[in-house]
Amino acid sequence: MNRRDFLVRTGLTMAAGVLAANLPLLDTDAARSSVVNLDDWEAVRNQFPLSRDLIHMAAFFLASHPAPVREAIDRHRQGLDDNPIGYWFDHEEKQEAQVLHAAADYLGVSATDIALTDSTTMGLGLLYGGLALHEGQEVLTTIHDHYSTATSLRLRADRTGAFVRQIPLYRKLDVVSKEEIVDTLIKSIRPRTRIVAVTWVHSSTGLKLPIREMADALAEVNADRTDSERALLCVDGVHGLGVEDLRLPDLGCDFFIAGTHKWLFGPRGTGLIWGDPRAWPIAHATIPTFNFEAYQIWMNEIPPKDIPVGAIMTPGGFHSFEHRWALDEAFRFHQAIGKARITERIHALNDQLKDGLINLRHVKVHTPLSRDLSSGIVCFEVEGWNPDQVVEQLRQRRIIASVTPYATQYVRLAPSLLTSPEEVEKTVEAIRTITP
Ligand SMILES: Cc1ncc(COP(=O)(O)O)c(C=O)c1O
Repeated sequence: MNRRDFLVRTGLTMAAGVLAANLPLLDTDAARSSVVNLDDWEAVRNQFPLSRDLIHMAAFFLASHPAPVREAIDRHRQGLDDNPIGYWFDHEEKQEAQVLHAAADYLGVSATDIALTDSTTMGLGLLYGGLALHEGQEVLTTIHDHYSTATSLRLRADRTGAFVRQIPLYRKLDVVSKEEIVDTLIKSIRPRTRIVAVTWVHSSTGLKLPIREMADALAEVNADRTDSERALLCVDGVHGLGVEDLRLPDLGCDFFIAGTHKWLFGPRGTGLIWGDPRAWPIAHATIPTFNFEAYQIWMNEIPPKDIPVGAIMTPGGFHSFEHRWALDEAFRFHQAIGKARITERIHALNDQLKDGLINLRHVKVHTPLSRDLSSGIVCFEVEGWNPDQVVEQLRQRRIIASVTPYATQYVRLAPSLLTSPEEVEKTVEAIRTITP
């Protein structure tokens, strides 16, 4: 039986409108989610099967799944193992819509402007790799961005001859200010700058860029430009999503790309791209969508019509659906705890860590101390040790840290919802004992 026969015989042709303009409404049963009492932080921690023998200070690297996400993955996996095609047809439309609605609700945007991806890197590669740039137009990016942004842009430049310019946004991290960053950015914009590609929270230093202020300043530059000339602000937001009390309209960027398998605790292998409706026209899909209507148009079953851009930008092919379809639970898990509460908790733990570290004479902290310019990640050096050695010393004390994967390397700690003030205290004490 081919795809068309299957659709016809099972009477699913009309139902197969995944990601259509009128997304199905949220299934209220599923929306109730299996989230239990999350009033205290120990209850939140209890949702994760993470080893209790370790202090997890690098949990953002790749998510451990909280109970509701694990349960949803198990449920979908069992269904797919039992009857892959039947379960897929029964669930694809509803589940994908559920995920999009949960993401849209969390981010404060329209579900039809969201594309689902497998990671931050896939999102960056798809968006930057498919930018429609005219000859002579420029992509402005920074020397602080992650490998995935830098490489996506380089690959785009290699293929098209587009010009990519990298700049530093500040001179010295210990005196950096919002004003310096915004000022540097705006002075670097040229008439031909069409894309500004930055990272919200730098995984190299923990610096958080003032995206709102950058967007406002760019809006002034763009005031004299036509839609096809505007400089668009594209943000790798992976280390802000699930930490900051985020609503995308408040952030003010044109594109937001993030994995949902780090701070958000979504299923491993999930992520998204959001674009403002005014900005989406610059993006072109690279991988064919499996949106049913797009497929039906291709099969001449229905006349050509507009498909929502989020669906067009969502790569088709079959996925690890048990993971993708469980992503709504991660958004709901965060909503159930409360976005503002999460932000306050993570910042308080990070303040505590920075306060402890700056008092150690053999430690140099490289992350700004202010909450305005930092978020979630604390980077530092310990006199007499290289970063890998410090991570090893911490590991021997049962504390999991990481090293920044950049040309300049620091030790990196990330207090999160999975760490307690006592664990932060123990971590500071452990670093006190790693003497020069
Ligand atoms: C800033 C930044 N962007 C992108 C990535 C890659 O994320 P993903 O694994 O979701 O592709 C990372 C780290 O892993 C990162 O630190």
